[in-house]
Amino acid sequence: MTQRRPLIAANWKMNGSVDLVHQTSAALNNIGASSVEILICPPVIFLSHFPKSSHYALGGQNVSSERSGAFTGEISADMLRAAGAEYVIIGHSERRALFGETDAVVLAKTNQAISAKLTPIVCFGETLIERQQEKTMQVLAQHLDAVYAAHPELLRHSVIAYEPIWAIGTGETATPEQAQQVHAFIRTHLSKYDKEAAEKVRILYGGSVNAENCAALFAQPDIDGGLVGGASLKPAEFSAICLSAQD
Ligand code: PGA
Repeated sequence: MTQRRPLIAANWKMNGSVDLVHQTSAALNNIGASSVEILICPPVIFLSHFPKSSHYALGGQNVSSERSGAFTGEISADMLRAAGAEYVIIGHSERRALFGETDAVVLAKTNQAISAKLTPIVCFGETLIERQQEKTMQVLAQHLDAVYAAHPELLRHSVIAYEPIWAIGTGETATPEQAQQVHAFIRTHLSKYDKEAAEKVRILYGGSVNAENCAALFAQPDIDGGLVGGASLKPAEFSAICLSAQD
């Protein structure tokens, strides 16, 4: 089996404070989860408040689909990189649903990120209705194709996040078996574009991950870590989640 280093990513969304930056940094510097890569994606304004640390990397939650220019309020991939980010979350379901991000926008942002040497964490997931209608795999295949079918080379530089929309912020998690089934489907589907890249790409699970349910999720063979929202705002709980992904 290919060794994929687990990645545990915190998605603070529009939450947090300078105090939380310091509490999180202190908590993560205290744990020795060296086999796990830890990433914090705070609101972009807090990036420069994080003390430099070898224990965690930083990322953005969004990036402009344009390189530079007259785009009031936008932040470019180069700017994120200059602010210390190494990763950026792209196509989160909240951005797709609330800010109208289409697959074409997700592709453009993925390209911008990679050109600026940021690793995109590209998010995919089905709605509750799609799951009830047994359309999960079909919907995922369609969205994955929209980004990777014509640009398989992007896969080598990406992290994928599977986030069932019905599980985000609801306290309802996919069972480890449900999640594993979808992760395995995603990996097999991606192998049509590039077999080796599909074997290497990390596929994170997101949706109500917490200190209680994380170990069983991370034990699944195709789950390579987590994208953690609510629980990442509690430094002790987030540290425990990171530790649970250690071998
Ligand atoms: P949640 O959020 O852990 O609060 O469900 C996950 C996410 O939206 O990335």
